[in-house]
Amino acid sequence: MSNSQIIVGLEIGTSKVCVVVGEVNDNQVANIIGLGQSKSRGVRKGEIVDSSVVEEDVRNAIVEAEHMADVEIQSVFLGVTGSHMRGFNNTGVHPVVSADREINDADIQDVIKNAKAVNLPSDHSVVHVIRQHFSVDGQDGILNPEGMLGAKMEVDVHVVSGRYNRLQNPIRLVSGLHLQVENIAFNGLASSLATLSTEQKELGTLVIDLGAGTTDYAIYSGGVIKHTGVLAVGGDHVSNDLAYGLKVPLGRAEQLKVDNGSAVIDPESKNRMLDLSTDNIVPGKKVNLNHLQMIMSLRLREIFELIANDIDQAGLINYLRAGVVLCGGGARTPHITKLARDIFKLPAAIGRSSTVSGIKNALDEPEFSTSIGLIKFGAFQSQAIPKREGLGRAIRKQFVSLFGGRK
Ligand SMILES: Nc1ncnc2c1ncn2[C@@H]1O[C@H](COP(=O)(O)OP(=O)(O)OP(=O)(O)O)[C@@H](O)[C@H]1O
Ligand SMILES: [Mg+2]
Repeated sequence: MSNSQIIVGLEIGTSKVCVVVGEVNDNQVANIIGLGQSKSRGVRKGEIVDSSVVEEDVRNAIVEAEHMADVEIQSVFLGVTGSHMRGFNNTGVHPVVSADREINDADIQDVIKNAKAVNLPSDHSVVHVIRQHFSVDGQDGILNPEGMLGAKMEVDVHVVSGRYNRLQNPIRLVSGLHLQVENIAFNGLASSLATLSTEQKELGTLVIDLGAGTTDYAIYSGGVIKHTGVLAVGGDHVSNDLAYGLKVPLGRAEQLKVDNGSAVIDPESKNRMLDLSTDNIVPGKKVNLNHLQMIMSLRLREIFELIANDIDQAGLINYLRAGVVLCGGGARTPHITKLARDIFKLPAAIGRSSTVSGIKNALDEPEFSTSIGLIKFGAFQSQAIPKREGLGRAIRKQFVSLFGGRK
């Protein structure tokens, strides 16, 4: 690979810290060459609550990924999430002032700058400003207005913002490990970059990343991001419900979920008992499988219903012609696609990082979507990649990011 470069995605998740190393060629095609993971011990609901253990967990995952990829990791693209993050649409307006009225790159930058000037709470900063469409003198749906003639230009953007201090916490932690944070990206956006094809983005797809402490989601239609959201609820809550409802310790509940879980209730399971009598933790205990499935299904149903209500309010349910794609560790729950189909009334499938190549088990596991997507995000953004005019450039410019600074 002649002009390849190394791009690293880092997710400091609630259940695992995950580092994925990608080798990206000058056509922006990513090949995964390294993967490092460690159990995450200091994160709740997607945010750091104990820096010292998180530092150790990040260090361990980085070292493992370095060994596998045989590279020294110096910088990362970092995923961020949390209940403080918000996604919304905004419009920027700009008068074209040049004598010949031909729209140039400076006009485009200005109109985007105006779209960024959103009225955020004073403690919030912008994470992404993603272009949707331009309009010139009332003509909608323009993808690239450069070179067109016009008097007034508008741009619709999707903005993702978050609380400044809460975004800085993971950045500072990673920087403290002498790793440069090249940029941050919302986890839901990263996961969608890993799992969706161009056709799915065009037709309209909802991507749901069911993590341990958060559920991040993003909607594409017409090739652009229409909507994003975060719920501070995930697989940990399913395990908590099981521990409470079945009266077993949390660790045992987590294991029961992974070994015997289901997102839907199987009528056949009514009289099936799981015998935990040989179990040292809860000796003599029996658990009704139907009861277990009911507890899981209620919580997962609630998560999907919250997302469905949000999409309904945003008026986007009819735009999802390619259905729902599920990723994150929670996507491993048996029959989760059936539950998604029932609630969203749309086709549903498990996402696979099919837009990249490399280590097969990294691509097949739904919980690595965020880190793999961060590599794609990095590839779009990277200035080091030899610039091609046309589509590559247009995509890169979609991700205008104000990383590190207040709005
Ligand atoms: N086979 C399975 N059945 C049900 N749930 C599973 C299964 N395997 C993993 N999970 C759940 O997936 C969750 C972990 O997913 P993931 O690794 O995507 O989370 P994370 O990225 O660490 O967390 P977050 O993104 O919320 O910060 C855990 O709650 C775990 O119990
Ligand atoms: Mg995650």
